Amino acid sequence: MPGTRWSPQSWRSHPAAQQPAWPDPAELERVQKELAGLPPLVFAGEARRLRQQLAAVAEGRAFLLQAGDCAESFDELSADAIRDKLKVVLQMAVVLTYGGGVPVIKVGRIAGQFAKPRSALTERVGELDIESFRGHMVNDDAPTPAARRADPRRMITAYHHATATLNLIRAFTKGGFADLSQVHAWNQQFVASSEEGRRYEQIAAEIDAALRFMAACGIDLQAEETLHQVDFYTSHEALIMEYEEALTRRDSLSGDFYDCSAHMLWIGERTRQLDGAHVELLAGVHNPVGCKIGPSAGPDEVLALCERLNPQRVPGRLTLITRMGADRAADLLPPLFAAARDAGHPVVWTCDPMHGNTFTSDGGRKTRRFDDILVELRAFFDAHHQVGTWPGGIHVELTGDDVTECLGGFGDIAEDQLHLRYTTTCDPRLNARQSIDLAFRVAELLRA
Ligand code: PEP
Ligand code: CO
Repeated sequence: MPGTRWSPQSWRSHPAAQQPAWPDPAELERVQKELAGLPPLVFAGEARRLRQQLAAVAEGRAFLLQAGDCAESFDELSADAIRDKLKVVLQMAVVLTYGGGVPVIKVGRIAGQFAKPRSALTERVGELDIESFRGHMVNDDAPTPAARRADPRRMITAYHHATATLNLIRAFTKGGFADLSQVHAWNQQFVASSEEGRRYEQIAAEIDAALRFMAACGIDLQAEETLHQVDFYTSHEALIMEYEEALTRRDSLSGDFYDCSAHMLWIGERTRQLDGAHVELLAGVHNPVGCKIGPSAGPDEVLALCERLNPQRVPGRLTLITRMGADRAADLLPPLFAAARDAGHPVVWTCDPMHGNTFTSDGGRKTRRFDDILVELRAFFDAHHQVGTWPGGIHVELTGDDVTECLGGFGDIAEDQLHLRYTTTCDPRLNARQSIDLAFRVAELLRA
């Protein structure tokens, strides 16, 4: 019952939206037991460290860059794909740090982003209505009834994919690849030859010069750890209850519970019901948590979420990710920012300019316009300026590949080009060039 003591299982007495129709409850239970016996993916101390870094964002001294796939795919576990995604995020962070003049906290939608909420239960394929694709943690994206059947064993596969991905991320970010002396190496061939790539090269050259200058001044750059490693955190939407429950563990140091499937978890727009299972589970874990805030959420609802998810008003604990759409952001955002400020809630406000701006193109593909994304971002910055609050970050869907999924940008992708390299398993992502272009625009907004 709501109001009773929290435990990793207490979500079970709350309605859980967006859960798959698991065909075999006994198999689901076996899988959950197996998962509960596997090691945690992240450690409580790491989640605490991210929480502390996000506190600096809540206080207006840092910026959060949260980025990655809409849905990770089981078919894309190559070192190259992970490295290329990491490269783009590192490049964006360099542009934002150098151009915006603020420390940037880097959080990937990665190593666990395998489950998707869906607006419709079924999808029409030819003459058939088949179950919707819910992410590789649940079913397969192939358009057949058999492929779409929910299979709990996929949660185990998701766990192992997340482990392998995280292992590689740790190696890349701590083992030299993220060293600031590698700043040129992150500029991929197909980006380097473009306008955005050249702008990036210029910053990279300036960073090189600054490093040489510091070395010439006698500063021991080798000893300065922050020049050689980056903190890169993982996050995903906490959607499938059994998976998240199984990875929720008690930290032996603090005695507190952490959802050890990722450093940060967020609640989606479709599952943020105040009395729902998702809010209940994340209310009790001590990770930094996020919650999507769409156009239907007014100030009262936002404050209720703040009270429920961060009653102690701990800075860095709660990130609210607004996704209003380009047309509505300017009107809807200021009252929300003002309400949280007036109530004394230390919210990390970030802008997801993707999910309010999705539409289906004439050719039947889901897409987004780069210009709409910019309009929503500008409205987010303007609204904060107006209210006197801090635009804490951005939340975007991107890939390191040269895909054609979002319209516009410097490459000016047109509707009739979407089919050329459209590979997403769910929502349309910015490609590497569009992502870096976006980082330059956000850096300008940060400076202004
Ligand atoms: C997402 O982030 O991929 C997503 C489904 O977003 P939202 O919950 O905001 O619709
Ligand atoms: Co998405």
